[in-house]
Amino acid sequence: MCGIIGYIGNKQATPFLLQGLRRLEYRGYDSAGMVVIDNTNFNCIKSVGKIDKLAEKLKQTKFTGNIGIAHTRWATHGGVTIENAHPHFSADGSIVLVHNGIIENYRELKDFLGNIEYKSETDSEILVNLIAHFYKGDLRIAVESALLKVRGTYGIVVMHKDKTDCLVAARMGSPLVIGVGEGEYYLASDATPLLAHTNKVVFLEDGEIAEVCRNSIQTYNLKDEQIVKCVEQIDWNDEQAEKQGYENFMLKEIYDQPTVYKDAIRGRINLDEATAHLGGLNMTPEQMKKVDRIILIACGTASYAAMVGKYAFERLAGIPTEVDVASEFRYRDPIITENTLVFGVSQSGETADTIAALREAKRKGAYVRGIVNVVGSTIARETDGGTYIHAGPELAVASTKAYTNMSAILLLYALQFGRSRRLSIATGERICKALLEIPEKMQSILDNADAIKEIALKYKDYKNCFFLGRGSNYPVAREGSLKLKEISYIHSESYPGGEMKHGPIALLSDDFPVIAIMTKNQLYDKMWNNIQEVKARNSKVLIIATIGDEKVKDLADDVIYVPDTMELLEPLLNTLPLQLLAYYIAVALGRDVDRPRNLAKSVTVE
Ligand code: M6R
Repeated sequence: MCGIIGYIGNKQATPFLLQGLRRLEYRGYDSAGMVVIDNTNFNCIKSVGKIDKLAEKLKQTKFTGNIGIAHTRWATHGGVTIENAHPHFSADGSIVLVHNGIIENYRELKDFLGNIEYKSETDSEILVNLIAHFYKGDLRIAVESALLKVRGTYGIVVMHKDKTDCLVAARMGSPLVIGVGEGEYYLASDATPLLAHTNKVVFLEDGEIAEVCRNSIQTYNLKDEQIVKCVEQIDWNDEQAEKQGYENFMLKEIYDQPTVYKDAIRGRINLDEATAHLGGLNMTPEQMKKVDRIILIACGTASYAAMVGKYAFERLAGIPTEVDVASEFRYRDPIITENTLVFGVSQSGETADTIAALREAKRKGAYVRGIVNVVGSTIARETDGGTYIHAGPELAVASTKAYTNMSAILLLYALQFGRSRRLSIATGERICKALLEIPEKMQSILDNADAIKEIALKYKDYKNCFFLGRGSNYPVAREGSLKLKEISYIHSESYPGGEMKHGPIALLSDDFPVIAIMTKNQLYDKMWNNIQEVKARNSKVLIIATIGDEKVKDLADDVIYVPDTMELLEPLLNTLPLQLLAYYIAVALGRDVDRPRNLAKSVTVE
């Protein structure tokens, strides 16, 4: 949460900083601010609200300088006000900082600093004053000394008004990437703002401090030892991070799915052996055979993709598999043995809860692997192997294509484990073929968007709804419900179809519709009965059904048809109409679908 950005070079800093803030806006959009150094003066501008507000203010002022920092905020400490917007200055006005993270011992540090008149309610302002306290002419040393006293998480970029040729950046728990240009450096919370300028990057690790000057970069650890860092190449391009004519990122990302799904499975299916091969697993066949338990750790949408994986691991490989919400896993002393395989599933690879849970699993001796989208992210680097999902940049706060690709990779892993155990070549072959048919089927769902839009308009004014599914369609119900609530703000809940009669059915009435995912699988008849119970309470019913199922019209008020596939693979298709449904409802209600209220894309605080 919060996006930070910085520039040092020979160009004007403002265009890059502003464009970078727009790219990082998904990380938080309560308020924003920017500081550039012009000679030895700090120029500062701040606004409450989205980046457009800051851009408006910038138009009305001269804002020059070729070194600068900027920030887009997701409030943690202190309300959404101009005073709390970053950058924050030291009381003497000499040092300025942008910060992403939380300083846990801020009270202690405030006491340590004594009598200072603070302008904001933020922990970040205490941190910049702490740096000023230690400043004796060397900004990096001052930052290092301050950070030695800090407990918590931070990604920071700091400037001193008398040091117009250097920035200092540091990270602990909050991501920071440095883009390497020709005589210039770009700093950002993730690589997307850099893509238009360079694909050469240095990923800062926890506990590292970088002194970034116009022509060089030097990195140190907190013990003041110099570290040699590799410059890495990233293969995402700027175009992938553009809207490409779509009204917003969410719609573009929904439509990306057939293409990026192909990227996820490319080269990973071996039809001859009727299996999948994910080299990044980094386990010997003997180690794989010994795995007797799998734990999938994730949050939000990623946890629903993990549920897709659970069903597949159990069915195809016969390995008991649990899905653990990361924030719960860590604090309940989970049981881990040396044959437990833990996957961290995460789009950003930076979710604080997931990172902490994976560290705990590692400490306890599990094999820990990542299923991650963002290349070079913390989870990708801290795990001992794993797989990139190749969804490309996902910038809308509501996750869509990452869900699909995470599910796809988990299905591939389940197939790989299955085939190394009990799964027959015939079933393996059927799964491989079904996986390869998915993109075309996805496209046919997307081609039906107009019909889905029409249905969305019928459902947009309800205040509540349920999503129901069973078996493979239960994770679909969970994900459909989350999508709807996060971008439309309509209250929705999801249940396994069979659970309704144990309580939730009490809520049903004619103004409480039910969306049932009821494709033709082994639980179809059971779902039929569950939906009949719903109908008996006069609820309107929208059913996601398999093409050709005419009978379902007897039960449904509205139907969205999807193509048939193998049961375990159904989430790869059945989630798409629900993404579109949520999208069109949210648009009809006038919501900002890419940046829904109160949310941030990358949740880097616990
Ligand atoms: O980056 P991650 O996949 O680890 O993020 C996990 C959740 O925060 C994320 O899926 C969240 O639930 C999204 N807003 C869902 O659309």
